[in-house]
Amino acid sequence: MFMDFFRINRFPKISKVKIDMHSHIIPSIDDGSKSMESSLEILEYMSKVGYKKIITTPHTMSDKYPNSTYTILRGLEGINKALTGKNIDIKMEVASEYYMDDEFVNRLNIDDILTMGDDKYILFETSYNFKPMYFEEVVFKMISKGYRPILAHPERYKYILNPKKDFLRFKKLGIYLQLDINSLGGHYGKLAKKHAKILINLGIVDFIGSDVHYKKQVSFLEKIFTTREYHKIFLKNKILNDTL
Ligand SMILES: [Fe+2]
Repeated sequence: MFMDFFRINRFPKISKVKIDMHSHIIPSIDDGSKSMESSLEILEYMSKVGYKKIITTPHTMSDKYPNSTYTILRGLEGINKALTGKNIDIKMEVASEYYMDDEFVNRLNIDDILTMGDDKYILFETSYNFKPMYFEEVVFKMISKGYRPILAHPERYKYILNPKKDFLRFKKLGIYLQLDINSLGGHYGKLAKKHAKILINLGIVDFIGSDVHYKKQVSFLEKIFTTREYHKIFLKNKILNDTL
C-alpha cells in the first residue's frame, strides 16, 4: 500500500514521449476505433496523458484489412474535419502498419507506401505465429530502397524462441524495434511481458507505441506510465519517437 502510494506520486500518469507512432484511431477502417465519436474520445484522452502528435497507423493487410494509401489519407481527412472546433490539442498524421505479405512487396516495388518522419520509416508486422520465409529478403529490399524498417511489437511474436539471439539478429539486419507500452502490463500475455523486459534490458528498443485500438487501452497506458519498468525504457534505450 505504502509502496503504491510512493510509486504513483513519484511517476506521474504522463507519457514521457510527445509523439505516438502506432495506433488504430481512424474509425471503421481496421480492427481499431468503431466510430468517429470513439476516435475523438481516444484522442482527447491521449492529449490528456501528454501526447501532442499522433501518427496513427491503420492496418494494411490484403485479406483482412485491404486499406490503401487513398483509404488511409481519406480517413485522416475525416478525422481532421471532426477535430475542427473541438478543444483537443493534438496534431494528427498517418502512416500504416503494413503486414508483410505479397501485396506489401508489390507496394514496395512501386513505392506506394505511407512512411513516417523525414527518414522514411516504415512500420511493419508479420504473422504472430510464423516468421515469413522471405522475411530477410523483404527487409533488405526496404533498406536498399532507402526506407528504414520498424518492426512493430517484436515482443509479441510467438516464433521468437531464442529472444536474445533473435532480437539481436533483427538489429543486425538494420531493423528498428518498436515496443508496445501495454506489453509491460501483461496486456498481451506473460510471454510478451517477459520479452518486453528482455528488449529493454538489451537496450535495443528504438520506438515505443500505444497500439491503442479503443479507449480503455489508454487507461492501461496511464498505469504503465507510473511504473519503474516504463522509466527504465528511457534509462537503457535511445527512444526516437520525438524525432518523428
Ligand atoms: Fe497495431
